Amino acid sequence: MQQGFVLWFTGFSGAGKSTIADLVSEMLRKRDVAVELLDGDEVRTHLSKGLTFSKEDRDTNVRRIAWVAGLLSRHGVAAITAAISPYVAIRTEAREMAEEFVEVFVDAPLEKCRERDVKGLYARAERGEIPNFTGVSDPYEPPPSPEVHLHTDVEAPEESAQKVIDYLEQRGLIS
Ligand code: ADX
Repeated sequence: MQQGFVLWFTGFSGAGKSTIADLVSEMLRKRDVAVELLDGDEVRTHLSKGLTFSKEDRDTNVRRIAWVAGLLSRHGVAAITAAISPYVAIRTEAREMAEEFVEVFVDAPLEKCRERDVKGLYARAERGEIPNFTGVSDPYEPPPSPEVHLHTDVEAPEESAQKVIDYLEQRGLIS
């Protein structure tokens, strides 16, 4: 059985978590690695349907993701998560729930994410239409020491994805 692990992407909305997580998933599948992707938006339509963006509900959401990812990874799966997961304390809990945990900080300056505004949510948040919006009216605590630190404002998505693959190889989690 292959070595399972949790690959945890964290960062602002619009920083590129899903894009890079998708690319990494594809690259791993090409190497015959069993992959499951728990994407924030998708999790919130299934596992976490009905949860809000209050601190309490975000913590619940992130704990659920961590629990499922931990289970999958114990069965040899590369469990990839892509949720904002804004709080250090809960990400630390997620780390403790997995045997092998790799935190990837998808770092793009907030200004860039606002400019891109792929989903038009920053504009709405700034107009006061979305309360507790991360980076606008809600906090984001960057990881103090992520295993991989991506700078998606200056790296192409393929380049960022390759950095993650290189790290996984170096760490011996994939061959
Ligand atoms: S988390 O904080 O609980 O980890 P999660 O990744 O699941 O967040 O969901 C974030 C996505 O929900 C964003 O990419 C955005 O599309 C949407 N969203 C809706 N309301 C908010 C909000 N108040 N803050 C951040 N994202 C929001």
